Amino acid sequence: MPKALITGITGQDGSYLAEFLLARGYEVIGMVRRTSTINFDRIRDFQDRIEIVQGDLLDQVSLINILQEHRPNEVYNLAAQSFVPTSFQQPVLTGEFTALGVTRVLDAIRIVDPQIHFYQASSSEMFGKVHEVPQRETTPFHPRSPYGVAKVYGHWITINYRESYNLFACSGILFNHESPRRGLEFVTHKITHAVARIKLGLADELRLGNLEARRDWGYAPDYVHAMWLMLQHDRPDDYVVATGETHSVREFCQVAFDYVGLDWEKHVIVDPKFHRPAEVDLLVGDPSKAGRILHWEPTVTFQQLVRIMVDADLTALQQTGNHSPHVG
Ligand code: NAP
Ligand code: GDD
Repeated sequence: MPKALITGITGQDGSYLAEFLLARGYEVIGMVRRTSTINFDRIRDFQDRIEIVQGDLLDQVSLINILQEHRPNEVYNLAAQSFVPTSFQQPVLTGEFTALGVTRVLDAIRIVDPQIHFYQASSSEMFGKVHEVPQRETTPFHPRSPYGVAKVYGHWITINYRESYNLFACSGILFNHESPRRGLEFVTHKITHAVARIKLGLADELRLGNLEARRDWGYAPDYVHAMWLMLQHDRPDDYVVATGETHSVREFCQVAFDYVGLDWEKHVIVDPKFHRPAEVDLLVGDPSKAGRILHWEPTVTFQQLVRIMVDADLTALQQTGNHSPHVG
């Protein structure tokens, strides 16, 4: 039975990846950091089928010990401080988790078992002020946030360990991917949750920042499949994972409000509080390398994604009367 370690298992992607690997007969080890209140909402349904271990990206010894004790064949490094606005408020901590944390995991692998296949969760945020449209593996990086800068470091240290120590280390440059398990602070879930609340008469307005920003939004379960495919290939490499389509925040609002028969312009208010010190205006990826080499392609369209998220929020609110953001 193959064994995989997932850092960040309590996050959106970690929970979908764990389910994906369990369905393929993997033994799944999930690393969580110590918190005073346990937050296993996203993994509750299959928690008894995985092994939870305590560790932290800030603590090198904890990573070495986990690898020594559990001897995984694959390590998926999904843990990070992943919210861009927080990275402006806590730039050093973001660097510790999201940049140096990658080196700590790679070093643990190098020391304990250099045969481990390693996946690094890199990001389209690295393209930032884009130098090319669409963005592909060879597009130069120009990050626009401390988070983006940290991810560039994580990407290059992954390549460096591959080249220096011959590790099977892959970097997936994933564009935005969403689902009902997305954190409520990210714009897609913020919108669909508000649409559901407004539809049910629980709220009346939605405050957003920049409506003109464009993103290439895909469906998270499709994207964890791409992570796994990278580690099954016969050689390690880096891949863009995206839909190839871009839509603005404004369009996302239109489609989500339309779906429940509401006029978005009557409810959305632009609030400068949500503007960022520097913005990423346009992201659209070219996933042709992943298609050609890994035979990966997205299965959910933009319209379907919006509907899946609105439906999940409506159902959760109707069932509980109180939103349970991470279930679904
Ligand atoms: P997420 O929902 O924010 O989950 C992040 C995970 O990292 C959580 O499980 C969190 O644990 C854990 N974590 C944070 N700091 C940690 C630390 N010091 N030690 C151990 N665990 C720590 O993120 P996601 O959307 O699933 O994204 C997964 C990864 O892909 C992240 O690296 C993200 O930057 C990257 N990425 C995401 C997207 C996207 O669109 N979703 C696109 C490109 C790249 P707690 O539950 O304790 O907070
Ligand atoms: N969060 C948020 N809240 N974003 C808003 C709002 C708002 O009220 N109003 C407008 N936006 C705009 C942001 O300015 C940004 O341009 C866009 O919506 C998307 O913001 P987020 O959903 O917060 O995602 P992100 O693109 O900054 O970052 C996500 O995707 C990256 C991949 O490109 C995160 O998941 C990162 O971890 C990931 O790497």
